[in-house]
Amino acid sequence: MTTPTLALRGGPPTVTAALAAAKIAWPIVTEADRQAVLRVIDRKLLWAQTRPEGLYAPEQSALEQEFAAFVGAKYALAVNGGTAGLHLALAAAGIGPGDEVLTSAFSFLATPAAILHAGATPVFVDIDPRTFNLDPALIAAKITPRTRALMVVDIHGLCADFGPILELARQHNLILTEDACQAPGATWQGRGAGTIGLTSGFSVNGTKNFAVGEGGFMVTNDEDAYYKANWMKQVGETLPASDRTMQFQHLLAWNYRVQELPCAFGRSQLSRLAEVNATGQRNAAILADYLQDLPGVRAPYIPQGCISVYHKYRIRLVPEELNTKLRGAALRDAFMAALTAEGVDVDLWGSAPLCAHPMMQARNPGDTAHNYPNTVAMFANSFCLTNDVFPIYAQPAALMHAYGEALRKVARNLI
Ligand SMILES: Cc1ncc(COP(=O)(O)O)c(C=O)c1O
Repeated sequence: MTTPTLALRGGPPTVTAALAAAKIAWPIVTEADRQAVLRVIDRKLLWAQTRPEGLYAPEQSALEQEFAAFVGAKYALAVNGGTAGLHLALAAAGIGPGDEVLTSAFSFLATPAAILHAGATPVFVDIDPRTFNLDPALIAAKITPRTRALMVVDIHGLCADFGPILELARQHNLILTEDACQAPGATWQGRGAGTIGLTSGFSVNGTKNFAVGEGGFMVTNDEDAYYKANWMKQVGETLPASDRTMQFQHLLAWNYRVQELPCAFGRSQLSRLAEVNATGQRNAAILADYLQDLPGVRAPYIPQGCISVYHKYRIRLVPEELNTKLRGAALRDAFMAALTAEGVDVDLWGSAPLCAHPMMQARNPGDTAHNYPNTVAMFANSFCLTNDVFPIYAQPAALMHAYGEALRKVARNLI
C-alpha cells in the first residue's frame, strides 16, 4: 500500500475544488425568511406596542410560544441576547449579591458575566475530559455556605450530566439554572436542554444552530419566574399593572426588549431548526464512522440518554496513540495545519479556563488555570472540526466523507 502524501508536504488535498465550492455558508436564508421580514415591514409594527389590553407584538408572541414548544418548556421570553437571557434566568430565580453560583470552567465569557450582572460570584468547576461539560464529581468540593445556585452549561450542544447534578442540587438546596445557549433541541433522558433547571438562557446569535443575528430567550416552567423575568425584561413600566406584575415593581429591571423584524425572521428560521440539527447529527454519524477505529483521534463522546445538536464538533487527540513525538498544543497545531492543507475547516474555540480571563482575574487573582487541569488539557489536545462560517450542521454529506478521509490521512501520516 502506498502512503498518501499529506497536502502539507505537496500531495493533493483531500477536499477537491468541487467539494470546497459546495460548502454551505451560515446562516442559510430562504425566500420564506425574506417574506417573513417583509410581512413585518408591511405591517409597520416594529416593536411591542402598548395597548389597553397589554403589549401587542404578534411576531414576538408567536416566536415565544413556538420556541417554548420546540424546547419543551411552558414559557419562553424573547430577549435581545443570550447573555440577557442568562442574566434574567439568574435574576428571576432570585440570585443576587452575596450568592455564589457554580458553573463550568469551560464556557463562553457570557456565563460568568451574567452571574456577575446578577450581583453574584461565579465559582468554577473543572470539566469531565470526555464530555467537556462540568464534572458533577467535582461540584461538592466547591460548595460553601454562600453557594446558592448552579448555572450548568450544555457545551457544544450536549446536555450536562444532569442525573448527579439534580441530586446534588436537591441535597444542598441549590437552585439549578442552565446556560443552554448552544443547545436548543438537545435532550437529556428525553428532557429538553434548558428545561431541566428552574430557569435557563438561550442564544440565537449568528453563530448558533438557531441563528437570528442577535437575540436570545429566557426559558422556564415556573410561572413566578416567568412573570418576574417579563417585568425585568422591559423596565417594568410597559407591562399592564395586573396583580401578577405589580408584585415585582420594587425590583430593578433592564431593557432586554426585542424587535419584530428579527422575531419574524427567527420564526422562519425556527421552523427549520429540527432539520438543521438533524443535518448536524447525520454529519456527526458520518465522521464517527471514520474515527471509530482510528487510533489517537476521538469523536465527541455522547453519553447514553443524551442527544447532541453538535453546535461544535470537538475532536480530541490522544498523543500516545499517534506516531509522533509532538505533544499538547504543538501536536494540536501541527494536526490542524495538516488538515487545513487538506482543505478541511478547523477552529479553536476558547483558549483557557474562564478563571484566567482578565475580567475574572481582576476579581479573583488567586484562582488560576492550574486549578482546572482537565480544561487546560482539553484546550491543548483538542480542536473543532468546521467553523462558524461553514458549520457542521449545514454541510453536505459528501464534504463530511472527505473530512473523514482527511482525518484518517493526517492521523496516519503526521510524524
Ligand atoms: C455557552 C454560551 N453562553 C452564553 C452565550 C452568550 O450569548 P449571546 O452572544 O447571544 O449574548 C453564548 C453565545 O455566544 C454561548 O455560546
